[in-house]
Amino acid sequence: MNSVATPNISAELRRRLDAAKRVLVLTGAGVSAESGVPTFRGGGNSATWKGLPFEIISSGAMLERDLPAVWEWFDHRRDKLKTIQPNAAHHAIASWQDRFHELTVVTQNIDGLHQRVGSRNVVELHGNIWRARCTVCRLAHEIPMDGDRPEACGECGNSLRPDVVLFGEMLPQGAFEFASQRALGCDLCLVIGTSGIVYPAASLPEVAKSAGAFVCEINPEPTPLSRLCDVVVTGRAGEVLGQLTTDSRG
Ligand code: OAD
Repeated sequence: MNSVATPNISAELRRRLDAAKRVLVLTGAGVSAESGVPTFRGGGNSATWKGLPFEIISSGAMLERDLPAVWEWFDHRRDKLKTIQPNAAHHAIASWQDRFHELTVVTQNIDGLHQRVGSRNVVELHGNIWRARCTVCRLAHEIPMDGDRPEACGECGNSLRPDVVLFGEMLPQGAFEFASQRALGCDLCLVIGTSGIVYPAASLPEVAKSAGAFVCEINPEPTPLSRLCDVVVTGRAGEVLGQLTTDSRG
C-alpha cells in the first residue's frame, strides 16, 4: 500500500481519475449502507427470518426444501427496499457513465440501486432481487416495484425463483468472466464498500492490480484487499464519492 488518505481524498486519486480511460468499479454492500441497506458483515447484518439465520434462509438448500419460504423472505426484503433511496455514491457512479472511454460497474449487490439512478450494463455478480427466473427454462421475469410478483413462468408455466445467487450456488454464467476481462484491461479500479472476502468477486482487484491498474479502495474499515491497493480512502462511500464528483469534473 503506497498511501493512506484519511479523511481527505488524495491528489493522486484525483489525478488518476482525471487521466483514466478504462475504469472498473467493484461495489459491495457498503455502497448501499448510507441508504440504509444492512451490510452482511461488520455488525451490519443481524438478519434472521422467522428464526432462520440469513445464510440458511438465503441458501440453495433452502430453495430446494421450501421455495415459498424463500420467496416470503425475498418479498420481505423487496418491500423494505421500496422505501430506500440511492445515495450519493450510486449517483456519483452513474454520473461517470459517459465520462470514461469504458466504465464497468461490477456489483455484488442485488438491490438494484445502481441501476435505479441510471448506471447501465451493470455486471450483477449475485443477481438482482427485482427479477425472478424460471426454475425450469430459466427465463428471467422482471418484478415490478409497484405491482405483484409474477407467480409462474410466462413461457412454460413452471415455478419461478428469485434471480439471485443463493449460498451454495454458482455465479451466473459469464458474469464473472466478463468482469475479469474488464479487470484485466482497466487502468483504474475502484473497490467500494466490500469486505473483500467473498470470492471470486474479491479477486477482481487482484486481477486489475496484476495487470498494471491503479487500485483504490474506499471503505471506512481496512479489508484484506487494502494491502494491494495503491490508495486507500478511509471513509464512507457516499461522502467520499460525493466529494470526489463535486470537486472534480464529475
Ligand atoms: P460485507 O457486508 O461483507 O462488507 C461490507 C463492507 O462495507 C465492509 O468492509 C464495511 O466496512 C464496508 N462499509 C460499511 N459502510 C460503508 C460505507 N458507508 N461506505 C463504504 N463502505 C462501507 O458486504 P460484501 O463485501 O458486499 O453474497 O459481501 C459480499 C457478499 O457476501 C455479498 O454479496 C453476499 C454475502 O455473502 C451473496 O449473497 C451471494
